[in-house]
Amino acid sequence: MLSYRHAFHAGNFADVLKHAVLIALVQSLQRKEKPFFYLDTHAGLGRYDLNAAVAEKTGEWRHGIGRLLEKKEKGPVLLRTYLNVVKGLNHKGPLRYYPGSPRLVRELLRPQDRMWLCELHPKDIEGLRREFDQDRQVKVAFENGFQAVKALLPPKERRGLVLFDPSYEVKGDYRTVVEVMMQGYQRFATGQFAIWYPVVDRGAVDRLCKAVAQSGVARALRVEQCIAIDGSGGMTGSGMIVVNPPWQFDEQMAELLPWLTTVLAPAGGGTFQLEWLAGQA
Ligand SMILES: C[S@@+](CC[C@H](N)C(=O)[O-])C[C@H]1O[C@@H](n2cnc3c(N)ncnc32)[C@H](O)[C@@H]1O
Repeated sequence: MLSYRHAFHAGNFADVLKHAVLIALVQSLQRKEKPFFYLDTHAGLGRYDLNAAVAEKTGEWRHGIGRLLEKKEKGPVLLRTYLNVVKGLNHKGPLRYYPGSPRLVRELLRPQDRMWLCELHPKDIEGLRREFDQDRQVKVAFENGFQAVKALLPPKERRGLVLFDPSYEVKGDYRTVVEVMMQGYQRFATGQFAIWYPVVDRGAVDRLCKAVAQSGVARALRVEQCIAIDGSGGMTGSGMIVVNPPWQFDEQMAELLPWLTTVLAPAGGGTFQLEWLAGQA
């Protein structure tokens, strides 16, 4: 039984980094006219109402997207696209709706591109279906995202991106996510693969990074941001491991991370890491 609901956490500091990275990857695929395929193995709801009781209960979004929107300074170009999508969802009015990864990517999709969303929570799948009802470019599947990878890759487009965004409520997810990424990579070695991870247990993060480094992938970049010291309580940071990062992605991240860390950890104490786990630019 799944207990994790992303509605409690939508728009928090970790979503900001994850979604900014996602935009950079999608934009890189759009440098060519050729279509691409996007697979979201753990899709969530697609859209979150920040006025809902669940979001209000934690108020996490106030320390993530809320902070970013308060910032007057423009920041890296990459964030402008992200903020434009968020503002567009709110019709340029006050912030109420926050786009999950599926809605964010959908807003960037061109007519030739398509996406496939997997979600296993019986309630969240309903919301996801409503969000993309009648949308011919989007397939919403009530299925295990880890199991979908083998069946869906390689995509007919031969270009694409897979986002792995498990909640890690099952400890085995740290191992499974690398195993499944490798199954995907073996079928689709030119694809981009992005693995999100939380910094809750540093040992688990180290093991995850080591597993990717030893997996045999040719190139993998780790992008991490912490807003508090390890072990100081709850999730103190988050990261993305990107396999086959596109050209100049490392430079985009080198610009993004220091700026974002200052905004999301305004009292200081924020840190970031940009590290090649395999290969390099
Ligand atoms: C962190 S949330 C996803 C957030 C979303 N990717 C975003 O950025 O907006 C993880 C989601 O995965 C779902 N989930 C958990 N295990 C799954 C599985 N094996 N296959 C598909 N979905 C799963 C959960 O119900 C939850 O909605």
